[in-house]
Amino acid sequence: MLAFLGGTGPEGKGLALRLAMAGEAVIIGSRDATRATTAAEELAQLATGVRIDGASNADAAQAADVVFLTFPYEGQRPTLEQLQEPLKGKVVVDVIAPMQFQRGRGASAVEVAAGSAAQEAQELLPDSLVVAAFQNASAEELQQPDTVMDGDVVVCSDHQEPKALVMELVRKIPQLRPVDGGSLANAKYVEQITPLLVNINRIYKIHAGIKIVGI
Ligand SMILES: NC(=O)c1ccc[n+]([C@@H]2O[C@H](COP(=O)([O-])OP(=O)(O)OC[C@H]3O[C@@H](n4cnc5c(N)ncnc54)[C@H](OP(=O)(O)O)[C@@H]3O)[C@@H](O)[C@H]2O)c1
Repeated sequence: MLAFLGGTGPEGKGLALRLAMAGEAVIIGSRDATRATTAAEELAQLATGVRIDGASNADAAQAADVVFLTFPYEGQRPTLEQLQEPLKGKVVVDVIAPMQFQRGRGASAVEVAAGSAAQEAQELLPDSLVVAAFQNASAEELQQPDTVMDGDVVVCSDHQEPKALVMELVRKIPQLRPVDGGSLANAKYVEQITPLLVNINRIYKIHAGIKIVGI
């Protein structure tokens, strides 16, 4: 079972939809269980034969083996401080790219004392297995079930088996390719590509992704 905390937003919805279409049982989490149920029902309309439920973030975290963090960076510390217990021993996939928007300057990365959101998550959850992935995957494209994603997902972690598991999940989304990004310390560079992509999207009016050549 895969859970998407903050899965009522576009990124969590998109990833939940794609992985449900690949046959995974998924559960949308929210600070409000009713909002999660509504989002799950809406998503289930977009594809046939998918298993998508909704629950509070805490119940979703409890129910799942792999838990995706798909809420804004501001929510990371307060959310994870409350969920240390249900997340113990679990694979936690940090999708968060800490970003700010300034008038006239577009998107820019927010400095994180730990180095990256993913490293901060690992500090907050010492008994969980944090993997950083999907920070550059466009929510717009993920939410369109017929759109081919065509890009790379760089996967970083200090835990080898959980990293391999998340790379397998990437492969379940047609045309997305996992790239082993090494240790969790490298998540910083991946997270910081996202504000660049947001600015490129504005210039070209597209949903840009990334591709590593030469592999
Ligand atoms: N959008 C993209 O294209 C994209 C691409 C790559 C990575 N990401 C990353 O994915 C994450 C989610 O992106 P998004 O665009 O889906 O975000 P979002 O729409 O701003 O937020 C997603 C959900 O997070 C919950 N939330 C909002 N503020 C929160 C807080 N302070 N504490 C806890 N939960 C909160 C809300 O759900 P409830 O109110 O139901 O709890 C909201 O629906 C972000 O960290 C972003 O950097 C996004």
